[in-house]
Amino acid sequence: MRIVLLGPPGAGKGTQAKILSKDFNIPHISTGDIFRTNIKMQTPLGELAKRYIDAGKLVPDNVTLDIVHDRLRQEDCAVGFIMDGFPRTIIQAKMFDEMLKELNAKVDIVINITASDNLLVKRLSGRRMCQCGKTYHLINNPPKREGICDVCNSPLYIRDDDKEETVKERLVTYHKQTCPLIDYYTEGKLIQNFDGEKTIEETTREILDVLKSRA
Ligand code: AP5
Ligand code: MG
Ligand code: ZN
Repeated sequence: MRIVLLGPPGAGKGTQAKILSKDFNIPHISTGDIFRTNIKMQTPLGELAKRYIDAGKLVPDNVTLDIVHDRLRQEDCAVGFIMDGFPRTIIQAKMFDEMLKELNAKVDIVINITASDNLLVKRLSGRRMCQCGKTYHLINNPPKREGICDVCNSPLYIRDDDKEETVKERLVTYHKQTCPLIDYYTEGKLIQNFDGEKTIEETTREILDVLKSRA
């Protein structure tokens, strides 16, 4: 299954993608995670991406598209994938369709998770991350021991772009550049909408119901 997860920052794309990736045994591809890994490793790509990410803007399409182009050609993608945070512009969506066509594939479903801007700001201000990839929330999804990852015992940290000013910019960017994708995928009859204001578990159940009815 080739799944796209669409939604504003903080809607729960990463949280749901990790669960679905395990359930369906298909890779979880997050362009945001790829950029953050590169920032951590201080690669030239990381240096470039950081300038945009810290400002709450999108990394240029050509850079993002090159990364996805390469990632799609890795062996594990043959069985499908969950794209989290890509595509994010109309150009990316059109080029993604082209890329998949070259591989004799297409997007099967677009899972659109939405929530109000107010709630998203709250979600992101309470988010805590671990280096192992696990994500927590101070109130909604807290670790068993404060500030420590349940899985690997490492100290949790706050994502650089989760500062309130940057979150506001990310939301502006979402409404301007990514929202038009809802129409794009509605026209292609691929979209399924989910209320991201429900609990993590409820949202997962609703998504699984839809996916399993199609599998
Ligand atoms: P990216 O990493 O994709 O960030 P984002 O889209 O801003 O989304 P987030 O990761 O912040 O939110 P999420 O929806 O994954 O929520 P999560 O599950 O963590 O992108 C970062 C930056 O990279 C971009 O700003 C851009 O600069 C660049 N970039 C990335 N892709 C790009 C592209 N394609 N083109 C150009 N630039 C690109 O959940 C959030 C919090 O809420 C957590 O604490 C979680 O525990 C909690 N939570 C989740 N679901 C629920 C729920 N149902 N109820 C209660 N709490 C919940
Ligand atoms: Mg995410
Ligand atoms: Zn951890």
